[in-house]
Amino acid sequence: MSINTAEFLNPVNTQTWDNGRHLVRCVKVIQETHDVCTFTFSMGQPVLFFFKPGQFVTLELDIDGERVMRSYTISSAPSIPYSFSITVKRVPGGVVSNWLHDNLRSGDQLAVHGPVGQFNCLDYPADKVLLLSGGVGITPVMSMARWWFNTDSEVDMVFAHSARTPRDLIYGAELEYMSSRIDNFKLHLICERIEVGQAWSGYRGYLNRHMLELIAPDFLEREVFCCGPTPYMRAIRALLEDAGFDMRRYHEESFGATPVEDIRQAEEHADEAEILEAELEQLETVAVSFADSGVSVDVVKGTNLNEAALEAGVSIPKACGMGICGACRVKVNSGNYQMEHNGGITEEEIEAGYVLSCCTRVAGAMEVEY
Ligand SMILES: Cc1cc2nc3c(=O)[nH]c(=O)nc-3n(C[C@H](O)[C@H](O)[C@H](O)COP(=O)(O)OP(=O)(O)OC[C@H]3O[C@@H](n4cnc5c(N)ncnc54)[C@H](O)[C@@H]3O)c2cc1C
Ligand code: FES
Repeated sequence: MSINTAEFLNPVNTQTWDNGRHLVRCVKVIQETHDVCTFTFSMGQPVLFFFKPGQFVTLELDIDGERVMRSYTISSAPSIPYSFSITVKRVPGGVVSNWLHDNLRSGDQLAVHGPVGQFNCLDYPADKVLLLSGGVGITPVMSMARWWFNTDSEVDMVFAHSARTPRDLIYGAELEYMSSRIDNFKLHLICERIEVGQAWSGYRGYLNRHMLELIAPDFLEREVFCCGPTPYMRAIRALLEDAGFDMRRYHEESFGATPVEDIRQAEEHADEAEILEAELEQLETVAVSFADSGVSVDVVKGTNLNEAALEAGVSIPKACGMGICGACRVKVNSGNYQMEHNGGITEEEIEAGYVLSCCTRVAGAMEVEY
C-alpha cells in the first residue's frame, strides 16, 4: 500500500507509536533557511505519532560504516499526527547534521528511538506561557505553539524568537500566519544583526530585560519554556533570576555542548589537567569488564562508563551525552557505580540493573552486559 493515500490513512485501523525503536520513512524535505532543513517521516503502516510537544527522537544512522546516533526534537505537533518532523541546522564540520542535509531524501528509511523527553508543555500546564528560543532551539517551542494553535487552546502565548539575521529566521512565514489568525498568540522576532540589503522592522540585538518588559510586561506571571544555545540560555536564566522570577516555572532544553566546547574547556584547563594526571597516577584503579564483548579494562575510580568502554575497544552508542535520550543504556551485571541522569531511564529499568553509560561513573570493579 502506498503511503498517505486515503486507504492508508484509515483512522479506524490506525495504531499509535510508543517509546521504542521504529523504522520510519522520510516523506518530505523542506529547506527552511540557507542552513536549516525540515525532514518529515511516516511509517509503512498507518501510525498516529502521539508525543508530548517538546519531546525528541534519537536517529540511528549508518554513516561510512559507523553507527551514529543523534537526538532531534520533534518540531511538528501531535495535533497533525500521521507524520512527525525534525528540523536540523547544519553544524560546521558536524557529522550527522551535514549528512542529513546532503543525503536524506524522500523515500529513504531510517531508525529512530523515542519519543522521550521531560521538556514538554503537557507536564507543566499553564494558562499563560512565554516561549523563548534562540536559533534552531526554536524546534521544541514551535511544537508547543503548533499544538496550542491547532487545538484551538485558550493558552495565552507570547513567543519571542532570536535569530542571527533576518535570513536565519526559521518558520518565519508560519509564525506570522499564526499570529495573524488568533489573539492569544503574540509574536516577537529579534535579530542580532542586519546585513546589507536586508529590511527589518523588528527588534535588534540580544534579548534583554528592557526588551522583555516591552514584549511581555506580565512575564513574571508566565510559565517559561526556553531553548537555545548555551550562552543564550545562561543569559535568559540570569535575566529572570535578577527580575525575581519564580524559577520553578522556568523550563529549558539544552541541545548539549558540542565537542568543540568540550575541547575548548579542556584546553583552558590544560595545566590543571597535567597536575590532575600526575595525581591520577596515585589513584586506585578498578577493572571494568564487558561480558558480551569478552574484554576488560583497568580504569581509575570515577571514570565515565561510556569512556571506559571506548578504552576497552567497545563502542556503546551515545547521542545526547547528558542522560536524557536513553541511547547509551546498558545492563550492569555486578559492581559499584554512581549514575546522575536527566530522565532518560525509568525507575523500573534502574531496579532491573540498567544504567545510562554516558552519565555513570565507575565506583568499583564492574561487569557490564555488553
Ligand atoms: C535533546 C536534544 C534535542 C536536539 N534537537 C535538535 C534540533 O531540533 N535541531 C538541531 O539541529 N539539533 C538538535 N540537537 C543537536 C543534535 O543532536 C546534534 O548535536 C547536532 O545536529 C550536531 O551533530 P553533528 O553530528 O552534525 O555534529 P558533531 O559531529 O557531533 O560535531 C559537532 C561539532 O563539534 C565538532 N567536532 C566534532 N568532533 C570533533 C573533534 N574530535 N575535534 C574537534 N571538533 C570536533 C564539529 O566540527 C562540529 O562543529 C539536539 C540535541 C539534543 C540532545
Ligand atoms: S547518550 Fe543520551 S542518555 Fe546517554
